[in-house]
Amino acid sequence: MQRLQDRVAVITGAGSGIGLATARRFAEEGAKVVCVDLDEPSGAKAADEVGGLFVKADVTSEDDVVRMYQTAFDAYGSVDIAFNNAGISPPDDDSILETGLDAWRRVQEVNLTSVYLCCKHVIPYMRRQGKGSIINTASFVAVMGSATSQISYTASKGGVLAMSRELGVQFAREGIRVNALCPGPVNTPLLQELFAKDPERAQRRLVHIPVGRFAEATEIAAAVAFLASDDASFITGSEFLVDGGISGA
Ligand code: NAI
Repeated sequence: MQRLQDRVAVITGAGSGIGLATARRFAEEGAKVVCVDLDEPSGAKAADEVGGLFVKADVTSEDDVVRMYQTAFDAYGSVDIAFNNAGISPPDDDSILETGLDAWRRVQEVNLTSVYLCCKHVIPYMRRQGKGSIINTASFVAVMGSATSQISYTASKGGVLAMSRELGVQFAREGIRVNALCPGPVNTPLLQELFAKDPERAQRRLVHIPVGRFAEATEIAAAVAFLASDDASFITGSEFLVDGGISGA
């Protein structure tokens, strides 16, 4: 019997990076995976690869979020795991003095409001089932801040962390665990894009990572699979750091 045998998992941002690696890992561990992404080709490819379902959805749209959980439930009869992971990187100059209100709002919308919508609409399924595991992707910057000027991004992830803690506490007695995943820098298209714009930024980051390298998405996926599984049955409301030691340095 595998750890996630027949659990129904909905993953947002499943077409790329951490979401894609987690879709693969969940499937390996026996889960039925619903891959959600705004980008149809990559999301559909991921679903095809893991033998799951693809739902094209924009996680900033409440109608889309309602539809994606309904689709998962209609197809498989439960929603056991929600990995609320879709997100975007900071805008080009994200210092407090330069970031415009539109850019700020866009980052909050995609990174934070989306998590609010996902939690709001998945919890009723989990309540009825009397169990569930929600993992929300925050970031190490939510815990320690960032010297590289990314105020809207850091604030959005801080919000994800606080919301996860609050919900973890609030729903603990109902068998629903809610944790914030806080990855350090991970070698994904999101990070590669950021570093392509500012190569020195990569070097500055690397210096501060005690293990001396960026994470691979598979290493983050392993932690998500743990949090999703019953092995993590006493872990809720946590900030779960998978950061190569960066927050302790
Ligand atoms: P990625 O860019 O490789 O993948 C993100 C996926 O989310 C893409 O497939 C994209 O199409 C999808 N997406 C974006 N906006 C969407 C929307 N409105 N609706 C539905 N799907 C949408 O990024 P990566 O690196 O895998 O990041 C995943 C999460 O991890 C993000 O929340 C990111 O902020 C967070 N994170 C990433 C770190 C890194 O170093 N890569 C470090 C810490 C946190």
